[in-house]
Amino acid sequence: MVLFGGTGDLARRKLLPALFCAHCAGQLHPDARIVATGSRAASTQDYVAQLEEAMREQRHGAPQDWASFANRIVYMQVDALDPAHFDTLAQRIQARSPQVVVFYLATAPHLFVPVCEQLGRVGLNHPGARVVLEKPLGHDLDSSESINDAVARHFAEDQIYRIDHYLGKESVQNLMAIRFGNALFDPLWRREWVREVQITIAEELGVEARGDFYDRTGALRDMVQNHLLQLVCMVAMEPPASLAEDAIRDEKIKILKALKPILHRDVAEKTVRGQYHAGAIQGQPVPGYLQEQGIVAGSGTETFVAIKAEIANWRWAGVPFFLRTGKRMQARVAEIVIHFRDVPHAIFPRPYGLTAPNRLVIRLQPQESIRLYFLVKQPGDTVALTQTSLDLDLAASSKVRRAGAYERLLLDVIRGRLGLFVRRDEQVQAWRWVEPILDTWRDSPIPPKSYTSGTWGPAASSALLSRDASSWHEES
Ligand code: BG6
Repeated sequence: MVLFGGTGDLARRKLLPALFCAHCAGQLHPDARIVATGSRAASTQDYVAQLEEAMREQRHGAPQDWASFANRIVYMQVDALDPAHFDTLAQRIQARSPQVVVFYLATAPHLFVPVCEQLGRVGLNHPGARVVLEKPLGHDLDSSESINDAVARHFAEDQIYRIDHYLGKESVQNLMAIRFGNALFDPLWRREWVREVQITIAEELGVEARGDFYDRTGALRDMVQNHLLQLVCMVAMEPPASLAEDAIRDEKIKILKALKPILHRDVAEKTVRGQYHAGAIQGQPVPGYLQEQGIVAGSGTETFVAIKAEIANWRWAGVPFFLRTGKRMQARVAEIVIHFRDVPHAIFPRPYGLTAPNRLVIRLQPQESIRLYFLVKQPGDTVALTQTSLDLDLAASSKVRRAGAYERLLLDVIRGRLGLFVRRDEQVQAWRWVEPILDTWRDSPIPPKSYTSGTWGPAASSALLSRDASSWHEES
């Protein structure tokens, strides 16, 4: 595995720890090697020492595990714009004649094209080669298509793994298991019985050290175009005929194509964008977005998005899909909430304000769980109802080690399994859907709505739902 961007944040925080876990779990072939590349000259020894330091907190294997993992790593200076570096890389790789070579492009996206061109020039795009593209792939449809075209000149589509780490989360695959492994839910999983769907990905973190990148990106490109739309597909797609990779991806693309466009005239009514200002997270004061490092003065980049999406097909017509994501929110939580319709005629007194007594809450983070809410009779001499839930704590219910999202996806690349990666047409369609929103926001004189760090976002986000007589599901 060759990691371009081997000295970057993603490699240190996610990729190498994931490979280390796979190593400790005996999932890497004894001959597997990791070539970490970076633009600076450094020795393997120094690189490994720095990595050991950076990963100290996350490492839980035995000392000998680290030593044997470190033995797999080689550091090489590879400047993406220097052909001589690729000649050396090719010689080193070809000397070992590996059956499978994975090139992981964890670099800035403008380097994807030169790197792929160089790999093609030195013959490292042979059939055993796979290339992994990290998001964001471009900043709009045109730029993403020109990267895709350039990569396609050197690699076939079945060699290209567009990664969306949300698809590697155990709970997202569990959603498929719940839907397609049980007969219980499918009859209810449609407009006749579902009143609305809510998907939230809320983070407590701010932009951290990525201010410069984030300011050019914003939450719509960073989270909605990819993670949130992929979750919509997993909730809404029809049952695939099998688990074959294209069977699943063929169903997902139908959903992306069925998303009702949110055109210029709808943007104000169906979307909310926000930006955090100073506040407190877990009792600690935090700065506002505009005070973060790397942010352009007066920036209008959004750190929060809420959208009312709709899917124009027989199963989902008229069912709102409320999506929201934000940084510096009150809690770190990622969840999918299916709100079922109410009984047609209520004969029992209800808990005050309860609009949807039956909710299925599939929580991805911080702990993976599935909870089904319903009403039962309050004990005693009363006919009133009270809300209760059936809880499935997935992490506690199985002692089997759960691989993290990146570990799972990296092993899938090594094994040549494409099912949990995004096909080109999915990506095109997702860009098509978000582009009118991006364009309208870019041209709008109205800045993002301000929200205090440590809250659930701007008030307009609640108003978006109240127009449909609803409110966000927020558990304490
Ligand atoms: C990444 C985004 O794709 O996902 C980050 O670029 C975000 O901005 C991260 O913080 C969230 O991932 P997770 O798995 O921590 O929810």
